[in-house]
Amino acid sequence: MINRRRLQWVSAVSPNNETVLASLQVKMANYYANSAFYYEEIDSTNGNWVTHPLYKDILSRLGEKLDIVEVGCGAANILLHHPDLAPRYRGCEFSTQLIQENGSKYPAATFKQITGNRLPYADGSADVVFSVFVIEHTVYPHLFLSECLRLLRPGGTFILLCPDFLGKGMIPSQYLGYSYGTGREKMKRGRIIDAIITGIDSKVRIPGKCEKLKKAIGDSFAFYINLAPVCFEYPFAADHDATYLTYDKEIKNYLRNELNFESTLPAQDGIIYMVASKKDSTADARPN
Ligand SMILES: C[S@@+](CC[C@H](N)C(=O)[O-])C[C@H]1O[C@@H](n2cnc3c(N)ncnc32)[C@H](O)[C@@H]1O
Repeated sequence: MINRRRLQWVSAVSPNNETVLASLQVKMANYYANSAFYYEEIDSTNGNWVTHPLYKDILSRLGEKLDIVEVGCGAANILLHHPDLAPRYRGCEFSTQLIQENGSKYPAATFKQITGNRLPYADGSADVVFSVFVIEHTVYPHLFLSECLRLLRPGGTFILLCPDFLGKGMIPSQYLGYSYGTGREKMKRGRIIDAIITGIDSKVRIPGKCEKLKKAIGDSFAFYINLAPVCFEYPFAADHDATYLTYDKEIKNYLRNELNFESTLPAQDGIIYMVASKKDSTADARPN
């Protein structure tokens, strides 16, 4: 029997993991291309652009900025509520279908498909690059971040909104116990042992592992990836398709030589909200 509870978490920056990561990336790309209802499910968040303080903060930072890029734009819902931004807006996504639909819906904006790890835009071509709940779905988060920064001109603004999974000590894409569902649901189904193991997994084992990883990361970065997200087997639920165990401090460690971080509205617990400007000189780009 496959032991699904095993934590198959590996660092995206270690060359030893290249084969398993490449294979996961192919599976994720197919998942996004072929999950018919995925984009309808995630679209339930579109009202956030009107009501949510962090989304409203992103909007306020776009101001008069001339050239705006959204990475992993989904249905480009910012334009649904703020169509005036369209002539200054470029969005990119994995899904061919969404790129076509977005293009018909917002002809004044431009949309491009992402293939592989390189974003489809020229160096230094953007005044703002922002991304909302995307990095946790990437298999190579460090390449994703480097690409976002490549697009930015010096002085340009980078905005990232995503969960803080490692910080919170959990990731929704991890198998818990021996079957689908919460401990409470399993208890109701009479799966007592499974329910107890699920509780131990979510309250003790996984938070403990996250603490160890955070300590090991320290002032550096490792970008841990869950190689076995439950989305391939379980029904859709938010972040069943999360791959990266997002971690605020690690992202900052990785980018600190290239960005000046600004203070922002405090995000709620378990959420990362980062706003930064690209430094003029990137000569000594990466920390060792
Ligand atoms: C939860 S959705 C968020 C979509 C959109 N930003 C929104 O808020 O509605 C995650 C998105 O990440 C995209 N995605 C996954 N991996 C990606 C990658 N490596 N680069 C860019 N986008 C990616 C998926 O296609 C999907 O649209």
